[in-house]
Amino acid sequence: EKGGYDYFMLKEIAEQPKAVADTLLGRIDAAGSLTLDEVRISAAELREVDKVVIVACGTAFHAGLIAKYAIEHWTRIPCEVELASEFRYRDPILGPRSLVIAISQSGETMDTLMALRHAREQGSKVLAICNTNGSTIPRESDAVLYTHAGPEVAVASTKAFLTQLVACYLVALYLGQVRGTKWGDEISAVVRDLSHISGEVERVLETMEPVRALARSLADKKTVLFLGRHVGYPVALEGALKLKELAYMHAEGFAAGELKHGPIALIEEDLPVVVVVPSPRGRSVIHDKIVSNIQEIRARGARTIVIAEEGDEAVVPYADHLIRIPATPTLLQPLVATVPLQVFACELATARGNEVDQPRNLAKSVTVE
Ligand code: M6R
Repeated sequence: EKGGYDYFMLKEIAEQPKAVADTLLGRIDAAGSLTLDEVRISAAELREVDKVVIVACGTAFHAGLIAKYAIEHWTRIPCEVELASEFRYRDPILGPRSLVIAISQSGETMDTLMALRHAREQGSKVLAICNTNGSTIPRESDAVLYTHAGPEVAVASTKAFLTQLVACYLVALYLGQVRGTKWGDEISAVVRDLSHISGEVERVLETMEPVRALARSLADKKTVLFLGRHVGYPVALEGALKLKELAYMHAEGFAAGELKHGPIALIEEDLPVVVVVPSPRGRSVIHDKIVSNIQEIRARGARTIVIAEEGDEAVVPYADHLIRIPATPTLLQPLVATVPLQVFACELATARGNEVDQPRNLAKSVTVE
């Protein structure tokens, strides 16, 4: 059932192009409009939404953090993202015009379920983004947009994450469409790019051998840091989470701009630091800033592992290891930038002799609070 792979995780990483394509299937028509009929919250209600609140845990929370950038940029609706386990304990401000999005692969995560129950008690509408048909979270929500990743067996979430991102982009674009905000050339271009993105994920998968070799060479390290900016920041958090749960290594993700506010003190000779570099096109200011961050940490002895777009030459002098990803619109970059981090963590776990599909102390779905 592992389809010739040693681990479910490897199989599931390889299935990502299909999972992404399946999640898009039938949801964008030939004219580039979104048809999310299954989201049974009326267009009139969606036009009234004055705030989006995303609740989720773990990897699904990282998808939510990325969704915030897309939702606010494409719809101009304020969006908060909160760990489900924190949400209801702080008396969040919610009302009938708040749209709460609960993201969960399993649909059974107790923290997320309790958060959505709390939101519904406050009169908010809840939209679930879920991978498991008929599970509790979609059953208790007002509407559901299913991800079509297929069953995810490995405890570490991979293909479900990419499809959660796709679903979040679809919701953001759909909200933009029904509200008529910013529905212009940029959005049409994104819709077009989204329909090609599974091929780009495939291309990333074809170039992963050097990432595996790099991971094996780092098997004796104690710590790996991850840096990112803009949507690259949640990608860095996700890279660190994968490494913690699979390789049992100390791993931390930081917003690159925060370095100088503390974490740069951690940099020492030969410390591996993975940096997710945003596209040099579009938000070029952020790109230039992260290039100086790479310079700063390298000057202090860090071993820099740089994930950057093809054609981004500015990073070359400062990258001890360079991992190339295809050029994509900035907001979609997490779909390609996360893949090398999954492969990296999986290979490191194998090199350290860990159980890849069943890491110690973890369960696939956490059904207690
Ligand atoms: O099933 P869910 O998406 O609600 O699960 C949430 C987290 O427990 C899950 O993403 C966890 O962090 C994964 N093991 C990460 O790889």
